[in-house]
Amino acid sequence: MARLKVAVLISGRGSNLQALLDACADPAFPAELVLVISNIATAYGLERARRAGVATRVIDHKTFANRALFDQAMDEAIQDSGAQLVCLAGFMRLLTPEFVAVWKDRLINIHPSLLPSFKGLHTHARALAAGVKLHGCTVHYVTPDLDDGPIIAQGAVPVLADDDEDRLAARVLAVEHRLYPLALRLIAEGRLSLLDGVVRVGGGSGEAALLNPAD
Ligand code: GAR
Repeated sequence: MARLKVAVLISGRGSNLQALLDACADPAFPAELVLVISNIATAYGLERARRAGVATRVIDHKTFANRALFDQAMDEAIQDSGAQLVCLAGFMRLLTPEFVAVWKDRLINIHPSLLPSFKGLHTHARALAAGVKLHGCTVHYVTPDLDDGPIIAQGAVPVLADDDEDRLAARVLAVEHRLYPLALRLIAEGRLSLLDGVVRVGGGSGEAALLNPAD
């Protein structure tokens, strides 16, 4: 069966991109990466993509007069690549509603919290300050609202008594690296359906979209 063609948007170190590259390195994995775009020329993730032989583009938001033109340039590059799905992996720019509309239901993001808790930045510090006992990460479809949108998969980690921000972030990141390939697989296998803002997983147990501390 043809593999789902995927573009990944990054801004930085690209460890989640690496997890996707590693998953796609297996010819049996149902998706392949066809393009990595970074808005930052020095992003280490670009190096990871080059090493894996995946095409890269730098599209620097600072060289565009406004967000609409920046997003248009990204859209053109993605369309040219033949990508059928766009994954945001540490891409730290807000997308315009126009871009989100073009890629509706074909645009996903990974966020370092159990949404809808802790949208936005500094999620680990805020989780510690709130005293939650479970924290984690979420892969979700992107809507025009920040860190909103139907939840595809979630991974949870315990918050431990001696956690600081770095220790908690590292524990969540390790789960992110398992969760993003899992979510991509579910999409590529056509196992997700979306109704009234809720994602259902077919063709197996719905628990396929859940990673928890007991795993
Ligand atoms: C990841 O923790 C990702 O969840 C987060 O940025 C980090 C990127 O790391 N994304 C967001 O906060 C988006 N709102 P990476 O570049 O090593 O994948």
